[in-house]
Amino acid sequence: MSPPSVIGQPISRVDGRSKVTGAAKYAAEFDPGPRLGHGVVVTSTIAGGVIATIDTAAAETAAGVVAVLTHRNAPKLPYREHKADVDPEDGERLHVLQDDRVHHHGQPVALVVANTFEQATHGASLVRVTYHEEPALTDFGQAETRAVPPGARREDGGHPGETRRGNADAALAAAAVRVVAEYVIPREQHNPIELHATIAAWEDVTLTLWDKTQWVDNVRDEMAAVFGIPIENVRVVSPFGGGAFGSALRPWPHVTLAAMAARHVDRPVKIVLTRRQMYGSTGYRPHTVQRVALGAERTGRLVALHHEGIAETSTYEQYTESLLDATRLLYSCPNVTTRYRVAPMNVNTPTPMRAPGEASGLFALECAMDELAVALDMDPVQLRVRNDAERDEDADLPFSSRALRECFRVGAERFGWERRDPRPTSMRDTSGRLVGYGCASATYPVSVEAASARVQLLVDGSAIVSSAASDMGPGTYTSMTQVAAETLGLPLHRVTFELGDTRMPTAPVHGGSITMASVGSAVQAACTKARRQAFARAKRPSADLVEVLRQLDYSVDVTVHNEPDDAADHYSMHAFGAVFAEVVVDAALGTVRVPRIVGAYGAGRIINPKTAHSQAIGGMVMGIGMALLEHTVVDARSGRVVNSDLAGYLVPVNADVRDLEAIFVDEHDPHVNPLGVKGVAEITLVGVAAAIANAVHHATGRRVRELPITAEKLV
Ligand code: MOS
Repeated sequence: MSPPSVIGQPISRVDGRSKVTGAAKYAAEFDPGPRLGHGVVVTSTIAGGVIATIDTAAAETAAGVVAVLTHRNAPKLPYREHKADVDPEDGERLHVLQDDRVHHHGQPVALVVANTFEQATHGASLVRVTYHEEPALTDFGQAETRAVPPGARREDGGHPGETRRGNADAALAAAAVRVVAEYVIPREQHNPIELHATIAAWEDVTLTLWDKTQWVDNVRDEMAAVFGIPIENVRVVSPFGGGAFGSALRPWPHVTLAAMAARHVDRPVKIVLTRRQMYGSTGYRPHTVQRVALGAERTGRLVALHHEGIAETSTYEQYTESLLDATRLLYSCPNVTTRYRVAPMNVNTPTPMRAPGEASGLFALECAMDELAVALDMDPVQLRVRNDAERDEDADLPFSSRALRECFRVGAERFGWERRDPRPTSMRDTSGRLVGYGCASATYPVSVEAASARVQLLVDGSAIVSSAASDMGPGTYTSMTQVAAETLGLPLHRVTFELGDTRMPTAPVHGGSITMASVGSAVQAACTKARRQAFARAKRPSADLVEVLRQLDYSVDVTVHNEPDDAADHYSMHAFGAVFAEVVVDAALGTVRVPRIVGAYGAGRIINPKTAHSQAIGGMVMGIGMALLEHTVVDARSGRVVNSDLAGYLVPVNADVRDLEAIFVDEHDPHVNPLGVKGVAEITLVGVAAAIANAVHHATGRRVRELPITAEKLV
């Protein structure tokens, strides 16, 4: 008898106990022995120029200090060319301590290594740096006027400067109803609770790194390139991630610094960035200004759509993201243009932050759609349903599946959308505060990358399954255990899933919501093969894998490399969703509360409804932050982030969050991958800020087009 299906069951996290008991080891918690040195980074206090002098004498003689590294004495590293798809296509990564040039405020200019963290921190405070300051571009308003089209080509997966189908200008001019508006999203910071940390240890010519990362294989490849050593000589270990949201996709300069210092002092070295340093060293969601123009017939049919966006990037790398991608396929519209510009500034390079591009781009588009609904005097849900696309008009492909209408139907019903009086300022709660209902569409692409998995079936009837994947929080350990147990036909407790080590079979980046589809497919394929081998070797026929394994003389050990099929050539593959938010606004104080959010998603098959729900409400919490709180404040004069800590950078806390509900509509997509999963990580942030902003408009009649929606923008 085969065990009951575990795919689709709300299994509690298999690593839950290890997390709550502290047994789960995060990067900074590994212990490479008593000789561990602690590195503390000294960062630049100017945004552009060159280092004139560095006085390290006081630091070098301070108690416990082992070494002070600056560009003067740091080894020159090969920095061989290496780009992964988490790196911007155009430009070159920061070469840390290789010269005297300062590109941005907060750039590492020295590293102090000492016996203890406190000694290193004290030593770092003694390093004196003077600069020849040069004019630096730190004002977005100025940089915006010098923005350039991205160099990346669409054919290579880049984000193009211009796209067009039909003639949006002419259609807009002729449209019966028009909306033209500008939306601003400030820089936002991932702020994972776990600080970025790396421990580096050399043993002869081999380097081991315990690192906070979403991609161990890429840290290995990058460090091999930076140090000019074979990748076989680098091992990267990262079994747990305490949140990341994209901040740990790329190895940042401190990873190189740890390895450089460890070799220099011939001891293992640990670097834990401070919260403040993470604002200058680990990327962020770029500040964007977007302009949207919509033209529609009186019936609500879109006839013209123009969407342009300008985003900040650094002077040394051109970061782009899918800011305008969703606009080209979300709605049916014959005339669409998009225009992308990047504004190089003296800042560190931005990086993907949960739903990079879609979260920002759809804030603008979905607020504009709400403005169009108001202009048409039409229900915002109805407007979206009316413009639902039958196929991807950008790629000219059918969707593999698309549940947008179903999501709006299910979500609206659950939310009680029919109770909405469409007139702004018409609804109040029992204490007289203004109430608003808003909605927005959500979408996020589905992609599947090649991945490998190893399955060991042991003669005691248990299985160890592994892949060099990551789990920054979504529950990879749990969902992969479910896929493995189901495919093998073993009970959950007989399966152990391991991840986060370059010694394991290769896995793609833990980002872009691809882990379930990519690593899950590899796990499924490897388990299918392993099970078949076990039965082929069985001495006596049996339908039970445990029985079969107990007869074997030695274990089954298979590794399978799984390549995605060509479905992406034939289908446009995306998850879709509908987000509904209720706000309560105190008109006198301008404070906005969010008592309710309901999201309905068509995200294919849900492997684990419990962890998927956690993902979804996590995305909604982040959306509340994006809508109402989050704002990395950059001093335009100096490029310094002035609120670089969790006291100054606000994220939602429990008191900001009330009822959150996520519904996954039934969706069977035979094309996306054999598991039928689409990924649920990023789509759950998309649309939330727009739904809240639209609800604020409904409550107050005030259209706030610049995030976050703070009290001073409402009173
Ligand atoms: Mo996600 S921004 O791809 O970690």
